[in-house]
Parts: sequence; C-alpha cells; structure tokens
Amino acid sequence: MSKVEQYITSIPDYPKAGIIFRDITSVLKDADGLRLAVDEMTAKIGDTEFDAIVGLESRGFLFGMPMAYNLHKAFIPVRKSGKLPRATSRIAYDLEYGSAEIEVHREDITPGLRVVIVDDLIATGGTLEAAVHLVEQLGAKVVKIVCLLELKGLHGRDRLTSCPTEAVVSYE
Ligand code: PRP
Ligand code: ADE
Repeated sequence: MSKVEQYITSIPDYPKAGIIFRDITSVLKDADGLRLAVDEMTAKIGDTEFDAIVGLESRGFLFGMPMAYNLHKAFIPVRKSGKLPRATSRIAYDLEYGSAEIEVHREDITPGLRVVIVDDLIATGGTLEAAVHLVEQLGAKVVKIVCLLELKGLHGRDRLTSCPTEAVVSYE
C-alpha cells in the first residue's frame, strides 16, 4: 500500500449514517502528502500516450491540474451542470449518496482526443462511468482513469471495464 494512506482521514457517518467518508483534505494540507499523492497518481499514467487530462469537479481538479501541469499537458474540466459558459454536453448519474449531472465544453473534446480522466475517488463508479460516456460520446478515447482512492467494497471498478483504471490507495 502507498505511503499516501497515512495522510487520509476516515470520518464515520458523514455525510449520512453508514458512510465512511475518506477525507483527502488532510493529504493536501501536508506538503509531503500533497507531493506524494500527485507524484504517485502521475506515475500511474506510466507510458500511456495521451493528449489531455480531464478532471472531475471538484476534488478531481485538485489532483488533475497539478498532474497536467507537471506533464505539460492540457487540462479540461468536467463540471457540475450550470457552471460552464460555452456550449456543453451533459449527462446525469447517481452517486453513493444522491444524484448529479456533469457537463463539458463540447468543442474542447475533439474526435480522436486521447484523454486520461482524473478524480480523487472511486466509490460506486457512477461519476467516472458518466464521465467516460460524456467524453466518448463526443468522439474522444479514454486511455486511462487515475484516482487517489478506491472503495473496493462498492465495486465501482466493475462499471469501468472499458479502460485501464488505476488507484493509489484501496480500501476494502
Ligand atoms: C465525489 C468524489 C467522486 C465521486 C465518487 O464527488 O469526488 O467524484 O463522488 O463517487 P461515485 O464513484 O459513487 O460516483 P462529489 O460528487 O461528492 O463532488 P465533490 O468532488 O465536488 O465533493
Ligand atoms: N464520495 C463518494 N463517496 C465518498 C466517500 N465514502 N468518501 C469520500 N468521498 C466520497
């Protein structure tokens, strides 16, 4: 297991009874934790060739942006609906607790673009599955998914079989 695990805080019954919330802000507030997390996520891309990182609002931005900066790649934000000013494509999906809708600027995802999708965490996999559909329906190819954490018990990975999926830390 990665050394990043020691920086993650677990909060029982947040935001609802029965959910163990894995808090990544305790990783970010430690300079060593932050560097380790970004570097280990970047290493998970390996020698996969790609054009841009697609980061998922909001916690995916925290990791996807520094990864793109370090690798001198473009960063494309996928946002919750209603935040992007240009023409968008959108998709609705269910969360571990609740539901949501995400969107991306349509002209930013060009046919054949090879993207790595970055988020902080795979829980049910619904968010990442929606993001994969969102960018692939615009003609891009998702060549890898990289996350900091995976909650294995929720089997989110089973919904992400169309592309290689990497997580730095896994919880049972
Ligand atoms: C959280 C998390 C992932 C998603 C994981 O985002 O950052 O994006 O849920 O859950 P899933 O695998 O069940 O879809 P959230 O929508 O809470 O938004 P936030 O990053 O803005 O907090
Ligand atoms: N997003 C969805 N489920 C989560 C969890 N258990 N901890 C942190 N973020 C989450």
